[in-house]
Amino acid sequence: MDQRIDRVLIDRQTIARRVGELADQIARDCQADAPPDSPEAPPLTIVPIMVGSVIFLADLIRHLPLMMRLKLIGVSSYPGKATTSQGVKITSDLPEDFGGAQVLIVDDILDSGRTITAVREQIAGRNAAGVKVCVLLHKQLPEAADVTAEYIGFEIPNEFVVGYGLDYDGYFRNLPEICTLREEAKC
Ligand code: IMP
Ligand code: MG
Repeated sequence: MDQRIDRVLIDRQTIARRVGELADQIARDCQADAPPDSPEAPPLTIVPIMVGSVIFLADLIRHLPLMMRLKLIGVSSYPGKATTSQGVKITSDLPEDFGGAQVLIVDDILDSGRTITAVREQIAGRNAAGVKVCVLLHKQLPEAADVTAEYIGFEIPNEFVVGYGLDYDGYFRNLPEICTLREEAKC
């Protein structure tokens, strides 16, 4: 294991199992949204928040047997070596009109909730039938944020984590597990 890693918080088998469960739950809920006279779920537009959601997204959507499209949005709140949120910066933009589709925002982690709130604001007024949120991780903060998600993979303690898409200074996204870093690695 890399010397900079402190410990593995969630291993790859546990992640894989949970991602499958989340996809099943999302697919069931989309199916339940289908009108009574139609066997088809309404189309789904997934809005992944780049870059952190990229690995989670790739695994999640391959378990979704649905008609779906992707519209990417880039949000940066932990620039460089920051390990606390530095304010939200939107780096790409969404279509003007979602055409009445259901929207599912996908992100790696829900921390202060500022990122999800900012993305929800971007989607508002662009003709989405409804907006739900799916995050792999939810950090338990001392002061509970009032932002929540319909689909949460794991509750984790209030620690800085990397791997499976999550980064420190742009690195460690390729680790297959969710890990904590040694203090010496965060400088
Ligand atoms: P929020 O806006 O505070 O909810 O933070 C969410 C965003 O911050 C996520 O999309 C992540 O990119 C990043 N983030 C929050 N906590 C961590 C962490 O522990 N490791 C890596 N990135 C994090
Ligand atoms: Mg992010």
